[in-house]
Amino acid sequence: MLGDIFLQTWAIANQKGGVGKTTTAVNLGGLLAEKGYRVLLLDLDPQTSLTSYFGVNSDEQAFNIYHCMTHLEWDAKGLKERAILSTGVEHLSFISGSIALATIDRQLDQLQGKGFVLSKMLEKLQEYFDYVILDCPPILGILLINALAVCQRLLIPCQTEYLALKGLERMLNTVHMVAKAGKSDFIYTIIPTLFDRRTLASVKALRTMRDKYPEALWQNVIPIDTKFRDASLAHQPLNVFEPETQGTHGYRVLIKHLLQGSIKGSEAS
Ligand SMILES: Nc1ncnc2c1ncn2[C@@H]1O[C@H](COP(=O)(O)OP(=O)(O)OP(=O)(O)O)[C@@H](O)[C@H]1O
Ligand SMILES: [Mg+2]
Repeated sequence: MLGDIFLQTWAIANQKGGVGKTTTAVNLGGLLAEKGYRVLLLDLDPQTSLTSYFGVNSDEQAFNIYHCMTHLEWDAKGLKERAILSTGVEHLSFISGSIALATIDRQLDQLQGKGFVLSKMLEKLQEYFDYVILDCPPILGILLINALAVCQRLLIPCQTEYLALKGLERMLNTVHMVAKAGKSDFIYTIIPTLFDRRTLASVKALRTMRDKYPEALWQNVIPIDTKFRDASLAHQPLNVFEPETQGTHGYRVLIKHLLQGSIKGSEAS
């Protein structure tokens, strides 16, 4: 099952909202594409922020990730022709999200192997892509369970502020729960985001994270950078929109770390 998938799948998840999940998915995707890898972004969030990021209205898409997950009979060609969209950036494609994803738990409820729907779908696409990046919703449900079942890496963006630390604990509980249920072959890394070194709140939160999660925490930070908003208005990853800004630099350091031969992070089990 999972062993058959050669392409690398990274899930970006945190049950806390607004911590930089979509920003991380778009920007890691942009940087992998810049390196020449063929990248597919999946918008798994019923809010469809990633889809909007690329200037696409999910309501206007005849086929989206909901259809892909509920039509497992579609082959690779069918998936490509129906659902895979261009971001306008070379090597970077995406599948649109949908408000209908909010009902997918009910839709898949009776299905045998409902936790492996994404695994089955992505298996078909392995010839076409090198990396798949999953932008997960901030809710524990079948979409997050599917994402954790298929990924080799889980990246957990966490805003460097006090309230976000509580959300992080909840996410880590989910990780350990999934691991206990027998799925433990992904490694996870916590990514401190929206770091503002001028504020005590940011500095303190980062210190707490370093004390509490010495193994799983990436030792660098993604800084706060207003250019992220400008890049989203231009529907481009930041490395395309503004290659030299601090935010791009932050994600460049992160991608270098993630692509290093030795995989660092924590085992989920
Ligand atoms: N490093 C950053 N510096 C400045 N703004 C940022 C940064 N990261 C994210 N943002 C902004 O913060 C907001 C929330 O980010 P994003 O949408 O990536 O979070 P999210 O975790 O995906 O949220 P949701 O849970 O709603 O899906 C966006 O407006 C985004 O442009
Ligand atoms: Mg999001």
